[in-house]
Amino acid sequence: MDKKVTVVGAGNVGATAAQRLAEKELCDVVLVDIIEGVPQGKALDLSEAAPIEKHDAHLTGSNDYEASKGSDVVIITAGIPRKPGMSRDDLISTNAGIMKNVTEQIAGMSPDAVLIIVSNPLDAMCQVAFDTSGFPKQRVIGMAGVLDSARFRAFISMELNVSVENTHAFVLGGHGDTMVPLPRYSTVAGIPITELLPKDRIDAMVERTANGGAEIVGLLKTGSAYYAPASAAVEMAESILKDKKKILPCAAYLEGEYGINDLFIGVPVKLGATGIEEVIQIDLTEEENAALQKSAAAVQELKELLKKLKS
Ligand code: NAI
Ligand code: 2OP
Repeated sequence: MDKKVTVVGAGNVGATAAQRLAEKELCDVVLVDIIEGVPQGKALDLSEAAPIEKHDAHLTGSNDYEASKGSDVVIITAGIPRKPGMSRDDLISTNAGIMKNVTEQIAGMSPDAVLIIVSNPLDAMCQVAFDTSGFPKQRVIGMAGVLDSARFRAFISMELNVSVENTHAFVLGGHGDTMVPLPRYSTVAGIPITELLPKDRIDAMVERTANGGAEIVGLLKTGSAYYAPASAAVEMAESILKDKKKILPCAAYLEGEYGINDLFIGVPVKLGATGIEEVIQIDLTEEENAALQKSAAAVQELKELLKKLKS
């Protein structure tokens, strides 16, 4: 393949993302992890599935960042996931250290790469990757909104018994309890769900979406969701690798957009070859804007916590 993507963290999300990238023949894939043998073993296992899955993407695994050299996109999933009862924010201290270490090495090997951050707490980890890499804001992008919107879409499809392909949804804000699903901008075949469903049904889906991660953690008990998160990260990577210019909700560093300054938070962006090509500013009602600002305040608190951890 003429494109190269490194996935750091060969755990549940990372390995599943590697599988999807290869099976879609989007790129060659390098899996990097600190555990000896794991990235090598998973890459080999996936390579041995290739003749059956009929793809020619090359997969390699390594504990050394040299293998990641010259990547076009790097998806960072390294870190620890949530356990039952843990919030995403509980992960901040451990994962900030891991993110700093990973980003330093990645930035040295692939100075022109676009970074897709997955590790939690998402918005705070984007900040760590941004500060550490020194990359322009267009090339540090967080994955959360695509996942949260996919969850909302799945629930809409279940509720109305329609194809998921007919659904569209936007979930903005931070990737936490304060995320902001937007029913007005969520549609079935172009029809806003606010015209198709009563308020109490929509409210229930909004709440289920905001608790979507915890719902899976509660069921799995030993880890968090990974199939849908991997799909979400790969949809973003595909838009960048193919310069598709899809509009997707992603965590972006805002400098005044939506009245928010110097903060990573989920907003609709256009994703192309150079990363974020545009932050799309949609009109929000007073109530929607208040929810977004509340979510921004929660992310700001995490940013302050990061500063305290540093000092
Ligand atoms: P996992 O535990 O299955 O995999 C994490 C991998 O990271 C492990 O293989 C571990 O060895 C590796 N790792 C740890 N420290 C490392 C380092 N310094 N360098 C390289 N690799 C390192 O966890 P999973 O389920 O894959 O989740 C990964 C992260 O993604 C978690 O922080 C989780 O909370 C987050 N996540 C975020 C989502 C989002 O919407 N943004 C959705 C799902 C997960
Ligand atoms: C999720 O939303 C844990 O953030 C992860 O599934």
